[in-house]
Amino acid sequence: MQFAGSHILSIQQFEREDVEQIFTIADRMVPYARRERITRVLDGAILGSMFFEPSTRTRVSFGSAFNLLGGEVRETTGFESTAIAKGESLYDTARVLSGYSDVIAMRHPKEGSVAEFAAASRVPVINGGDGSNEHPSQALLDLYTIRSEVAARGRPLSQLRIAMVGDLRFGRTVHSLCKLLNLFDGVQVVLVSPEALRMPADIVESLRETGHDVLESERLEESIAHVDIVYSTRIQEERFNSQEEADLYRGRFRLNQSIYTHHCEPNTVIMHPLPRDSREHARELDEDLNDNPNLAIFRQADNGLLVRMALFALILDVVDQVDTHARDVGWYTAGRF
Ligand code: NCD
Repeated sequence: MQFAGSHILSIQQFEREDVEQIFTIADRMVPYARRERITRVLDGAILGSMFFEPSTRTRVSFGSAFNLLGGEVRETTGFESTAIAKGESLYDTARVLSGYSDVIAMRHPKEGSVAEFAAASRVPVINGGDGSNEHPSQALLDLYTIRSEVAARGRPLSQLRIAMVGDLRFGRTVHSLCKLLNLFDGVQVVLVSPEALRMPADIVESLRETGHDVLESERLEESIAHVDIVYSTRIQEERFNSQEEADLYRGRFRLNQSIYTHHCEPNTVIMHPLPRDSREHARELDEDLNDNPNLAIFRQADNGLLVRMALFALILDVVDQVDTHARDVGWYTAGRF
């Protein structure tokens, strides 16, 4: 695809070679994310960041990625702090904000809203999550992480076995990840969820049409026994009618160190888009896994910087200039990545 000036709204806009290109550029961002070098390639550029739903990682890593390339960030969070609370339309907001920004990252609770916003925007818009629909940059950083974690364990990506666990109905990260896996061959996918929270049928169907081996299950232990990756997800309580309804499912599939030891193959990688719900009644990923070296959740979050830097460099067409605007840094940088 032509990246320069393009919106990033859905994983479905990518070909496999586009994904490879993003990953190659993400690899080149490591010294900048590690603060070994700094680049000012986006000096003067402005990222407009509009997050209408709670966000820690996505919002801050989009902002930090832009800062690490030398650009500045202007942001709004929540509806109350914007004129949408006064009745302004997405169209008007997009027309206005795109006059102040070079690129916009946006999250909104309604499916399709980011595309609607993008249609009115004069600058590229990146979907940071639209309701339960899609979260393309998360899927990219997830696959980037899967790729590096399986390689580190000497396993081929071409025979990937992955279990996705939890709220597969409303979880936009797993929706986008499945669509991304459709660009690859021969993946074994186990979809573990309560009956009411199954992966949407059209996504399951498209995995099968690609030729992937797909199994749906309601039993955690046997489903995680023969996979390379366990990808756990949070019950998306904000998409339910009530907390009581979400409570029916919270805590149904809990992975902890004991279950891991008894049921997983050695070195099975544990992932989660985060946040994990660490409250007593939930705990889909127990904190007793924190010292397990196969817990990749924080490496996964770190990789968000690399992938988002790569996306900005591609969309703003500065890939070849990143290193020419760079220099070494002198401050203390130990402990990152
Ligand atoms: C996810 C999201 O917002 O969809 N978080 C994230 O962006 N890393 C997952 C979640 O909220 O459960």
